[in-house]
Amino acid sequence: MSADNFGVAGLGVMGRNVALNIERNGFPVVAYNRGDENAQRMRDESVGKNVTVTQSIEELVSLLDPPRRVLLMVTAGAGTDRVIDALLEYLEPGDVLIDGGNSHFPDTDRRAKRLQQAGLHFVGCGISGGEEGALWGPSIMPGGNFEAYERIAPVLEKIAAKTDDDGACVTYCGRHAAGHYVKMVHNGIEYGIMQLICEAYDILRSAAGMSTDQIQGVFQKWTASPKVGGFLVDITAQCLAKSDDQTGDPLVEKILDTAGQKGTGKWTAQTALDLGVPIPTLSQAVNARILSGLKQARVEASGVLMGPGAECEQDRERLVATLHSALHLAMVASYAQGLHLIQAASKEYDFGTDLAEVARIWKDGCIIRSRLLDPIKQAYRQDPEMENMLLHPSFSAIVNESLQDLREAVEIANRGGVATTCLGATLAYLDSYRSEFLPANLLQALRDNFGAHTYRRLDMDGVFHTQWNR
Ligand code: 6PG
Repeated sequence: MSADNFGVAGLGVMGRNVALNIERNGFPVVAYNRGDENAQRMRDESVGKNVTVTQSIEELVSLLDPPRRVLLMVTAGAGTDRVIDALLEYLEPGDVLIDGGNSHFPDTDRRAKRLQQAGLHFVGCGISGGEEGALWGPSIMPGGNFEAYERIAPVLEKIAAKTDDDGACVTYCGRHAAGHYVKMVHNGIEYGIMQLICEAYDILRSAAGMSTDQIQGVFQKWTASPKVGGFLVDITAQCLAKSDDQTGDPLVEKILDTAGQKGTGKWTAQTALDLGVPIPTLSQAVNARILSGLKQARVEASGVLMGPGAECEQDRERLVATLHSALHLAMVASYAQGLHLIQAASKEYDFGTDLAEVARIWKDGCIIRSRLLDPIKQAYRQDPEMENMLLHPSFSAIVNESLQDLREAVEIANRGGVATTCLGATLAYLDSYRSEFLPANLLQALRDNFGAHTYRRLDMDGVFHTQWNR
């Protein structure tokens, strides 16, 4: 076996595809899966290739040249700990273990500490791009021990997506659990943008009464837009174009309107609350999914709770232009919120994350790749410490240009009784962020009134308490 070999444990579709990608790029792969079915699939898919599928973890480790490199591609959670436990019996000091799943970042911290005690290096590594990306070039977000990263970087650089102008979509995201943190926020942004797209679709469908074909035409045009163009708009156009084999109708019209989730969006919302960073667009996307899950209750409520249902009075061309501009701004705000959160987490948890690099590696390979990421990268290159990119001239110009359209889009939806969980949250976020004065003066008075929580004044220093009922 060559000294360049690489281990992959966990051979679901993502694991198999990453293994094939690694092998295609010149590194012999030693692969292992606990169940036989996926191990057999790996054997079938790698006939004639430099992939050895082993029967046991012991054999996997024995076939790798020390210091070893093993990539775990296991569904995040208890399964990851089980494989780590098994690997720990055989791995030796100096070996590098990479967790390529969507693990929750506190778990990554815990595992890194545990492995460190055994003299092993642990790299928590986000991998984005779905099945296709895993095979042909994902965006890769590794973090943790830098020396360990350097040992795996040549492989990661080969297998990652390549931008035309900006290199491979992989970078060292920072110390500790930075890799999984960045991937988690990537997913939070993914939730936000997907929900925004769904709301634009809903306004066209429910407020403007457009057919799925007509809406498909709108998204098809937007795929070429420098403002909203990107992977998620591309696949929206694709989904809306697909016909149902059974009926010939658009397939989306046949799909149940409840969406599940695996946790990364919720974790993004939770950590943002912990760190006190406002990310309402991303958090509301989680609420939108939860509400979508209340199907039975919604069916009942739709017969009891009445809404306006007014038709949109704008002509369609103008409405589409308004929505395009609104979606553009809301997408900008989604990236701004996510990157603000990573910036805050980097300080709090000592990640040392380079935000320009994060934007660069999201330019291709990942689910949230879009044309906006290049200007975002440039803005963070100019000002790496900026707290919120909305104040950078490139993006404040977009806010000033498009806020009225976002307002109009939300008003149209509100008049039609169409829920704008994320568009509305984005508008409120932007209106709050640009407000010199918010009504928290009254809030402070209320807190002081019932709980003697005290307040501060605009016109003098100090902390005050008032007997409000006298
Ligand atoms: C990716 C995706 C991928 C997956 C998430 C979200 O970057 O390739 O984000 O990781 O889509 O697990 O899944 P849920 O929507 O089920 O939470």
